Amino acid sequence: MANTRRKKMIPVLVTAGPTREKIDPVRFISNYSTGTFGYAIAREAFRRGHDVTLVSGPTHIEAPRGVRLLKIETAMEMRREVLKRAKPGTLVIMAAAVCDWAPMKMAAGKIKRKSSGLSIKLKENPDILKELGQSKKNILVGFALETENLEKNALEKLKKKHLDMVVANKLTKKSALFGSGATDVVIIDRFGRKAAYRGRTKQELAKIILDKASNFNI
Ligand code: C5P
Repeated sequence: MANTRRKKMIPVLVTAGPTREKIDPVRFISNYSTGTFGYAIAREAFRRGHDVTLVSGPTHIEAPRGVRLLKIETAMEMRREVLKRAKPGTLVIMAAAVCDWAPMKMAAGKIKRKSSGLSIKLKENPDILKELGQSKKNILVGFALETENLEKNALEKLKKKHLDMVVANKLTKKSALFGSGATDVVIIDRFGRKAAYRGRTKQELAKIILDKASNFNI
């Protein structure tokens, strides 16, 4: 695709993977996110001709061809890159599993084992998506991983964070949320439209999400 045509299309910024919040120089708090969903979306967006930036936590996935890949570790680093690069009018798809908490402070040296155990005080991380929602200069797509009250909680997130669309998936014993297996999701938009998809691959869902997101404008 000619670069001039790519420049005319809406730029897309995708976040993917987990963040890591450092306890000491060798330990961190994180989650099971593999980054599969976000990478599939970034790959599909590039294939469609968008200029794509992918801000990614640590994953084992190969960098998608043509995509501007920025690797970060912590939520604070992800926030810095996202706020710097989400220029007005960008479609922002926050598929990253950002850690909600980080240790209050990182120990300078490796923490030694003590028989009294160890308590780690956590502080809340900034909510990147909510911050973007407050200024509302972008089309915003969020993800909601829930263990209960899927639609109610997803809808609350959509409203609280001023999203255009939320992709909700429920964590069950059988579900293949982490990794590349078939996935069930419910997509809800700010007009209250709701669509459920069962047993789809993340590649298929990436197409559906980008199709739906293309109906929104700022
Ligand atoms: O509130 P919850 O963490 O479930 O919201 C999920 C959505 O918010 C995801 O799209 C995630 O990428 C985003 N998020 C964020 N900053 C955080 C936590 C979540 O942008 N600190």
